[in-house]
Amino acid sequence: MTQRTILITGASGEIGHGLISRLSGTPGVRLIAMDLRDVPESIQGKVESAHQGDICDRAFVEHVMSLHRVNEVMHLAALLSTSAERAPEQAHEVNVQGTFNLMRTAAEQAQAYGDPIRFVFPSTIAIYGVEPREKDTIPPVREFQALRPITMYGANKLYCEALGRYYGRYYRSLTRGDRRPPLDFRCLRLPGIISAETVPVGGTSDYVPEMIHAAARGEPCTCFVRAETSLPWMMMPECVDAILQLAEAPVLSRCVYNVASFSATAGTFADAVRRHFPGAEIRFEPNEGRQSLVDTWPADVDCVRAREDWGFTTRWTLDEAMTEYIVPAVRARYGSTTPPEGAAS
Ligand code: SER
Repeated sequence: MTQRTILITGASGEIGHGLISRLSGTPGVRLIAMDLRDVPESIQGKVESAHQGDICDRAFVEHVMSLHRVNEVMHLAALLSTSAERAPEQAHEVNVQGTFNLMRTAAEQAQAYGDPIRFVFPSTIAIYGVEPREKDTIPPVREFQALRPITMYGANKLYCEALGRYYGRYYRSLTRGDRRPPLDFRCLRLPGIISAETVPVGGTSDYVPEMIHAAARGEPCTCFVRAETSLPWMMMPECVDAILQLAEAPVLSRCVYNVASFSATAGTFADAVRRHFPGAEIRFEPNEGRQSLVDTWPADVDCVRAREDWGFTTRWTLDEAMTEYIVPAVRARYGSTTPPEGAAS
């Protein structure tokens, strides 16, 4: 079995937590964590080595990658859409320059060692820009459609998809000769992600995780989009499944895949939360700015290619996700005393 030495950037973030918890202890896998923030002890205990530093610092990136002879990168570090809209120039630095530093360094090392480096990159529904008035009537959006992001985050991610495709398919095409391109680039466009273990920061799809965690803590929540706002979603364990399925798939015919489990409105989630947490106080007070971003993200995406090419599967519908994953996990986390739905009183 080939030893996998996987560098995970953004290791202290939501997906980093989920991915490291799942991969830790897997035979033949060495995990190297990287984050701008301190890597928490709970994660340090699960990885071989943790490095605190900035992906915009090329010397730091080079140092970490060569120190461990990384052969796989899962690049999760990013400023999400709301944060990026508040600091667009900084977002460009992190989301584009930081990604370029990683790809460039990985490509150089791949060439030095004579072996391509696998580079797994989560992209986003924010790379799409649909007409708000058509959002709820158009068919699920396919990978090549509506590529007109209106946010810095979406523009950054769409460009980095192209950069990854370049390093993975076309690098130095005029002079490379028979040598393989240096990166094996694989990208998923993630929908809104919901974790029962962590609360997201700086995203525009945060309104659903926020209402779930607030209800479990017994706190009121103000939802910043309208109740009828629809987006595609998936649960964190499904997101981790998808990243690993894609990372472990044999040769692929394309670089970029949509993934999602189901589509649902904020109001549908609020109803589901109220069913499980009858005292939940959820008010809808749309924030015009954030609403206008979500209004350009598709209500649903077409995942046929991911299913056909690498066997993408999902675990849950919304109701199943609430019952089998979210509610038990947030109750365990916050020690909620609200009786489960259907429990005898
Ligand atoms: N969750 C991301 C955000 O809200 C979208 O992919 O920014």
